[in-house]
Parts: sequence; C-alpha cells; structure tokens
Amino acid sequence: MKLIERISSKEIQQRVAEMGAEISLNYKDKPLITVCVLKGAFIFYADLLRSMTIDPEMDFLRMSSYGDGTQSSGKVQFSKDMELSVLNKHVLIIEDIVDTGLSIHYLSQVLKTRGALSIAVCALLDKHERRQVEVRVDYPGFVLQSGFLVGYGLDYAEKYRNLTGIFELIPE
Ligand code: IMP
Ligand code: MG
Repeated sequence: MKLIERISSKEIQQRVAEMGAEISLNYKDKPLITVCVLKGAFIFYADLLRSMTIDPEMDFLRMSSYGDGTQSSGKVQFSKDMELSVLNKHVLIIEDIVDTGLSIHYLSQVLKTRGALSIAVCALLDKHERRQVEVRVDYPGFVLQSGFLVGYGLDYAEKYRNLTGIFELIPE
C-alpha cells in the first residue's frame, strides 16, 4: 500500500474555517442541531464546530454500511442512534465522505420522519464516481471524482484516521 497526499493539512484548515463561517451565517438565530456521523467525521466535526460562531446542539450517531474494506455493502443501519430529539429543529448532518450516497439518503429519510424542520448535509469530501442515489451535499468541503481516501478521520481497516492531511491509498 502506498499513500499519496491529496489535500494538505493547511488546505483542510482553511476550507474548514470557510465552511464554519458560512454555516454560522446561514443558521444565525435558528434552532440548530449538528449530528456527527461516527467514526469518520470525528476530527472534521471537532474542527468545524470550533470554527462556528453560533452555539448549536451536538449529537453523534454511527451507521454501518462498510465492512473493513473499500466496497460499500449497500446495507445501512444504525449501530448507535442519536440521543437528542430533532423535532422542530434544523438538522445539519456532518459526514466525512459521501460516496454511493446510500448512508446519507437513509439517514435523511429517518430524520425527516422524526420531525426535523429542515435537513442539510455537510461533508468533508464529496466523491462522485460511485454515486448510486441522488443526494444534495449542501456544504461540500472538497469535491473529488474517485480514489480511496484516508486521513483526517477517514480510515482504511480502522487505521490512518490520525493523519493530519488527506491521502489516497494506492494498492501495490
Ligand atoms: P456511502 O453510503 O457509500 O455514501 O458511504 C459513506 C461512508 O463510506 C463514509 O462515511 C465512509 O465511512 C465510507 N467511505 C466511502 N468512501 C471512502 C473513502 O474513500 N475512504 C474512507 N471511507 C470511505
Ligand atoms: Mg469508514
């Protein structure tokens, strides 16, 4: 396996600051709950939330759709659900990467049935090549065509989440 840097730590920091400012402006004076999709978004979430000037509620959930590999299983379920209610609140889902779109599609449907006022999606990476369902990424960090990425929260077999930049994993 070879790792090739695609997005530097500095580029990430700059983009996260911009996104935090944009989100803060759009949700000023609105009841907002932000949901971190574990595990991949944990580092992005921590940085993004600290770049906001508003004070949203924070919650976490975990879905499983991927095994230890790089292929989507196509099946999505909660392995940890939210603890707070989304009823009558604006919800901002914060994801590491939208790939096939199946996870976000499923999650948006569920939160809609729980009475969210609105649902928006913020993803560090928006990867188009394998998209299977149409989903709107309202706040994309970086748009990519393809490749398997690790670092800044993203894993391959639960490793590399601690890299400060984003790297493409190349099989040798
Ligand atoms: P989707 O349901 O196919 O959109 O899958 C989204 C989830 O798959 C993400 O939250 C990641 O956990 C995982 N995933 C998809 N592509 C990558 C990648 O390039 N690197 C690491 N994880 C990925
Ligand atoms: Mg993952």
